[in-house]
Amino acid sequence: MKDGGNAFDAAVAVAAALAVVEPYNSGLGGGGFFLLHRASDRHEVVADARETAPLAATADMYLDARGNVIAAKSIDGPLAAAIPGTPAALEHLATRYGRLPLAVTLAPAIRLAREGFAAGETYQRLAKFRLQALRASPAAAQTFFVNGESPPPGYIVRQPELANTLEQIATHGAKAFYTGAIARALVNGVRAGGGIWNDEDLARYKVVERTPLIGYYHNIRVVSVPPPSSGGTVLVEMLSILEGLNLAAMDVITQKHMLIETMRRAYRDRAEYLGDPAFVDVPVERLTSKSYAATLRNDIHPSRATPSNSLSPTLQKAAGENTTHFSILDSEGNRVAATLSINTSFGSAFMPAGTGVLLNNEMDDFVAAPGKPNAYGLVGGSANAIAPGKRPLSSMTPTFLEAPDRVAILGTPGGSRIISMVLLGALDFAEGRGPESWVTPPRFHHQFLPDVVEFERGALTDIEQAGLKRHGHQLKELERTYGNMHAILWDKKANRVHAASDPRGEGSAVVSGRN
Ligand code: DON
Repeated sequence: MKDGGNAFDAAVAVAAALAVVEPYNSGLGGGGFFLLHRASDRHEVVADARETAPLAATADMYLDARGNVIAAKSIDGPLAAAIPGTPAALEHLATRYGRLPLAVTLAPAIRLAREGFAAGETYQRLAKFRLQALRASPAAAQTFFVNGESPPPGYIVRQPELANTLEQIATHGAKAFYTGAIARALVNGVRAGGGIWNDEDLARYKVVERTPLIGYYHNIRVVSVPPPSSGGTVLVEMLSILEGLNLAAMDVITQKHMLIETMRRAYRDRAEYLGDPAFVDVPVERLTSKSYAATLRNDIHPSRATPSNSLSPTLQKAAGENTTHFSILDSEGNRVAATLSINTSFGSAFMPAGTGVLLNNEMDDFVAAPGKPNAYGLVGGSANAIAPGKRPLSSMTPTFLEAPDRVAILGTPGGSRIISMVLLGALDFAEGRGPESWVTPPRFHHQFLPDVVEFERGALTDIEQAGLKRHGHQLKELERTYGNMHAILWDKKANRVHAASDPRGEGSAVVSGRN
């Protein structure tokens, strides 16, 4: 921004730099959603850079002959990879919304890739966690390991091939990635590793501009992402249910019970109705309507948990890690909330030789078989079944919250828990608290199935735990924390900007210039 760029140029630079220094979270081999607000004309739009299923994909591609899901197939290796959207998004933002050429905004990322960065604790932990899968890809192992092992602390990770790929994009735009020599190397690499990409998959990839999903919670205007992310829909559905409850007048146990029952019901609808709108009719208006919210609210018992299997039948499983989110506000009032991903840590762990591009495993966000849980334990049905060219259903929830004199920009990684994290942050904003308070306190979560309340240590007091158990909730304290929320509050009345980064993650918030 100091070089004359705006928030959108900054988003390009940040997305590209994160792709280099947090290769386990996001990257050129992945995708995501950029929620934009242009101050000059209040234009708001979602740049949907979600990955698409390859044209050769089929609904049963992760099943064995007996119809059982082979979980590793949608997680490890090139068969797990969908067609990346991030390179197209970088060009889209630069040419439509930015002021600086990609040669300028990609320069820091190119430098970081060529000169290297020091591997930190997160890098080491996740490289160890994905050791076997990364070793199976010679190019990935060569890039991320030293002699086949996770490198020692402070080791300088250099990615010369990624630098070359970024340079090609900086000079020629996204077509250098989706056609020509890089595309050839990507397709050859994927096919040699057992994947199913074709030239046409890359050549026809397009960012889709979507109208943001708008909802209201009391006097707060909620601006978030529509399908193919479930984030905005589920967030607004939950806020609409909660709007009709006087949470402030309730004791803490009842409050949390109501929040959990709300999450349960909205995540149930996620499983049932949400998918890529190019393939299925998603009843977004009904799901986010006040009348539907009232129906769901009336069905909540004030002191009894509703067993999820009494709401509709499906199944269960545990969580995964990583993805990234950043929030940007410039001095003109332009805003970006971007959540970007390659799905689980180090994505598919597969890197086609010569490209420096680590591929995503976003195919796992599809439903491999009805009722079978994915890496986040999420279940679903035909709405989110695999089909050629289809975008897998996401939970990413980059969001703006607009109160009469305050604006928030927020979002987080965290798989299925993203939406409940943004909900808790939004409720905190509604209470008038600042971003430190949205990103810091321990969190709790319910996602319909598994039928259990997951919580970070300290999120529920002993008394609350006892009370919720009495109401019939099953509780599970998590061993690890989750989330990495990056949030901005623009207090228009005081004309001050506050920013905060989740203490659980790396990275930090910076407010510079007039404030
Ligand atoms: O699109 C989604 O919902 C997932 N691929 C996001 C993955 C994620 O946030 C992992 N983070 N811990």
